[in-house]
Amino acid sequence: MAEDLKLTAITKEEKYKELFPQIKALVEDEKDNIANMANICAALKFGMNFFWVGFYLVRNEQLVLGPFQGPVACTRINLGKGVCGSSWQKKETIIVEDVEKFPGHIACSSLSKSEIVLPLFDSQKNVIGVFDVDSDELNSFDKTDELYLNKIINLLKF
Ligand code: SME
Repeated sequence: MAEDLKLTAITKEEKYKELFPQIKALVEDEKDNIANMANICAALKFGMNFFWVGFYLVRNEQLVLGPFQGPVACTRINLGKGVCGSSWQKKETIIVEDVEKFPGHIACSSLSKSEIVLPLFDSQKNVIGVFDVDSDELNSFDKTDELYLNKIINLLKF
């Protein structure tokens, strides 16, 4: 039926707005961060159709792969290395429009074309990990992603 046809494309912001309350409901009554990180990855991978979504956690002076969704990824990243290690070192979000133009980018998959990495802070403002989202298209991430992904990771209490 004609009224069933959706002709207008839903924007990225609308998708995040729809997804955020679902993710909040998933994690707010659960204290276990591993379980919550795992569900955040699954919700974003399938809700936003990202190529790879995952956490790296600081363990003994390295980032070690945590919960993720997507193809297998490198397990350890040193401080200052790649986008993840740089985000950890600088304590800031990094948006990469084209991974081939980021010096030292760590290519876990040749299909990954752009990415955003956000630091994860504990209550004392120490970086305890990073959250990495990859796209198989160039230039996928902007301030809208930064805003909503930050809202999502701030649901976690470290
Ligand atoms: N590309 C990242 C490594 C992690 S993977 O993309 C999953 C980086 O340069 O830090």
